[in-house]
Amino acid sequence: MEIIKVKDYDAMSEAACSFMVERINRIDHPVLGLATGSTPEGLYKRLIEKYKLGEVSFKNVKSFNLDEYVGLDKNDPNSYYYFMKTKLFDHVDIFMDNVRVPNGTADDLQQECQEHENAIRAAGGIDVQLLGIGANGHIGFNEPGTPFTSRTHVVDLEESTIKANSRFFNSIEEVPTQAISMGIETIMNSKEILLLVSGESKAEALAKLLNGEVTEEVPASVLKNHPKVTIIADEAAFSAA
Ligand code: GLP
Repeated sequence: MEIIKVKDYDAMSEAACSFMVERINRIDHPVLGLATGSTPEGLYKRLIEKYKLGEVSFKNVKSFNLDEYVGLDKNDPNSYYYFMKTKLFDHVDIFMDNVRVPNGTADDLQQECQEHENAIRAAGGIDVQLLGIGANGHIGFNEPGTPFTSRTHVVDLEESTIKANSRFFNSIEEVPTQAISMGIETIMNSKEILLLVSGESKAEALAKLLNGEVTEEVPASVLKNHPKVTIIADEAAFSAA
């Protein structure tokens, strides 16, 4: 694992942007695994700036999102599809046919999970998977206890995750209780992984990942078994490590 320590959120976003631009420009027809949440927002803003400056193009990029809430329509402002569209896709030259966010309103959710897997496989696998981390160590929506052998699946969200994500909703009752998430094995099959960690609320999760054992109780700890992981984390995130 390569660990890059930076000062703060802005420095993390800047370093992540350089990392992604280098890969997008170097890899022929890059396949990206993308994440939502507050953590990658600064990265997406910077990628849009780089696109406007002509320093990066997404026209050959394919992307797959990690997760989506069950029951939220694409156009719901809290859906991850909407997040991706408004925070990145609408502002760059990516073809919307080349992006896939799991469909949380599919009639057959199991089938939808399978289709996400099939589409990733058909694209030749993910070249670079971007990840954030939950305060409980989750990656994607793979909560503690998720088998390392999991593929894209429907998950029941933990109370702590529902609470953490309720900041985006009008009330906690509106937060979906389930999500579709790429599984741990799906994530681990990516050729390269970039994990971004910012802030004190993630310090304990980062400390467990760096200093603890590899265990399904800390989903992110599995990254230690991956041959090509880069972690970019800020000083606050390192405060417990
Ligand atoms: C959310 C998402 C994850 C994200 C994590 C951290 O629940 N499902 O993909 O990485 O939790 O979110 P944030 O970056 O907002 O702290």
